[in-house]
Amino acid sequence: MSEQPSATDPRYAEYLRARSRGEDDFLRSLKVAAREAGLPAIWIAPEQASFLQVALRAARARAVVEVGTLAGYSAIAMARALPENGRVITIELDPRHADFAEAWIRRSDVGARIELRRGAGTMRLAELAAESADALFLDADKASYTLYLREAKRILRPGGLLCVDNAFAFGRLFDAGAVDGEVAAVRAFNEELAADRAFEALIVPLGDGLWFGVKR
Ligand SMILES: C[S@@+](CC[C@H](N)C(=O)[O-])C[C@H]1O[C@@H](n2cnc3c(N)ncnc32)[C@H](O)[C@@H]1O
Repeated sequence: MSEQPSATDPRYAEYLRARSRGEDDFLRSLKVAAREAGLPAIWIAPEQASFLQVALRAARARAVVEVGTLAGYSAIAMARALPENGRVITIELDPRHADFAEAWIRRSDVGARIELRRGAGTMRLAELAAESADALFLDADKASYTLYLREAKRILRPGGLLCVDNAFAFGRLFDAGAVDGEVAAVRAFNEELAADRAFEALIVPLGDGLWFGVKR
């Protein structure tokens, strides 16, 4: 057995992507339409969607919260892993992204399970009740991740899942020249979560690195 993480070799990434089922024709069409509408193509990878679905099903999650909707790709993928009465609350700051996502969520097969809330993640998370979420997915402004982590401890139930994208800082984690706000914020957050005893967590090397943790 090797201790080297082979999944960082692009061939392994392609191999496992081809064997994951997180994406279907609807989600592929959503991405095409989002690009045509000029939205940034920064949604999660199909294999990350697949991983989130498996994790949510394993946890029997019903109440999921997401910060960072963009086009609705991950919200729709996660909602598909919930029972009929499950709910994804997804939070988006940019009105153009929110408008696009709402239209596609409505025409998806899980529109009734998704509620889009507009505004800043910090504001909207503060409105949620303590221990009301089975899972929280953070995928928005990295500078706020420390604040989001504080809210995660409050709104997740014990045993709830914490998932956070971009642990590899857009592939720039080890780039010494990358000292800008977002990369620096990711580095700081990674250290913070790695040391936080409130969670049992690790980085899963899928996509741009996905933090996956359980609230103790
Ligand atoms: C990486 S994209 C989300 C991708 C989405 N989770 C997916 O995989 O389909 C990040 C989104 O977060 C939104 N965002 C940025 N800052 C935010 C904030 N303070 N509160 C809520 N959303 C924010 C951006 O407008 C953008 O749509």
